[in-house]
Amino acid sequence: MHLRPMQLSDIPVIADVSAETQLEDEIVEFIAPHRSKYYTSYRDGFVRRIHARRLKPGWIYWVAETDHGDEPTALQKMRGEEELGGRLIGYAAWTRKGSRGEGDDVAHMSVLDAEFESCLAGLKSFYWDFFNLDWSMDPSKRAILTGLFAQTFGDDIFPEAWLLANVVTHTDYQRRGIGTRLVQWGLDQCEAERVPCGVESSFAGRRLYEKLGFRKFDDLRYGENEKETMAVMVWEPPGLEGRWFHKAKAAADILETGASSMLVT
Ligand SMILES: CC(C)(COP(=O)(O)OP(=O)(O)OC[C@H]1O[C@@H](n2cnc3c(N)ncnc32)[C@H](O)[C@@H]1OP(=O)(O)O)[C@@H](O)C(=O)NCCC(=O)NCCS
Repeated sequence: MHLRPMQLSDIPVIADVSAETQLEDEIVEFIAPHRSKYYTSYRDGFVRRIHARRLKPGWIYWVAETDHGDEPTALQKMRGEEELGGRLIGYAAWTRKGSRGEGDDVAHMSVLDAEFESCLAGLKSFYWDFFNLDWSMDPSKRAILTGLFAQTFGDDIFPEAWLLANVVTHTDYQRRGIGTRLVQWGLDQCEAERVPCGVESSFAGRRLYEKLGFRKFDDLRYGENEKETMAVMVWEPPGLEGRWFHKAKAAADILETGASSMLVT
């Protein structure tokens, strides 16, 4: 298996991997309660979002692709088949906040083409969201999550950072170190640039991040259910441990104390 930057032509396959793998994810369950009934709509939502984001400056996607001779999946073993390679089995979506965020360009596109494509993709996404054309989604719940995400990793504490928007390994290939390699790419950037890495972790991602050294400084509760909580986590480069974590934790504690005293009074 190797990692490589995502091409625009990879997006339909990556959307399939994302939609299949996250079908039972608690966050997806929250925002897309009708995803099984309107599966195509749900899956096409990934195509639109990945496309719009990928074209925005500062966004980078890495994909994991199998190599010939990799360990076969359980199904391949059962059928006596070998892994032929060239299959996309995971991805990570990264964005760089701050001074280096504007520097990324879209491979094989002129700046003008990329800006035009980005505008079109943004408009399409806006149009779909505004008229609620994705029937798999609950728009009010999506708005709750968007509002919560807007509050994390603010410029006051995190003016410069790499943010991991998502990492997905296809179910058939999990627990082989692919998620680790996809996340490690961003941690290497953080170490070189001496900036932190932030993530709002799903329930499934938590162990992976903890193992890599991320620390939780806040909980993002989006639903009634105890499980409907994301862990807001940060990774700091060696030698800078605590620099962002302590400030972020203190800010989160103040907010929580404020919220609970409002409940008491
Ligand atoms: C989270 C996810 C990307 C992990 O991918 P992966 O390729 O299986 O990750 P790795 O093989 O590198 O696992 C690294 C470590 O994470 C932990 N981990 C990963 N999956 C786990 C699971 N299902 N149960 C318990 N621990 C798990 C383990 O500690 C594992 O190390 P180990 O196998 O040596 O014990 C994958 O489960 C996934 O795609 N989940 C759905 C999407 C999602 O929730 N993404 C996170 C968004 S914030």
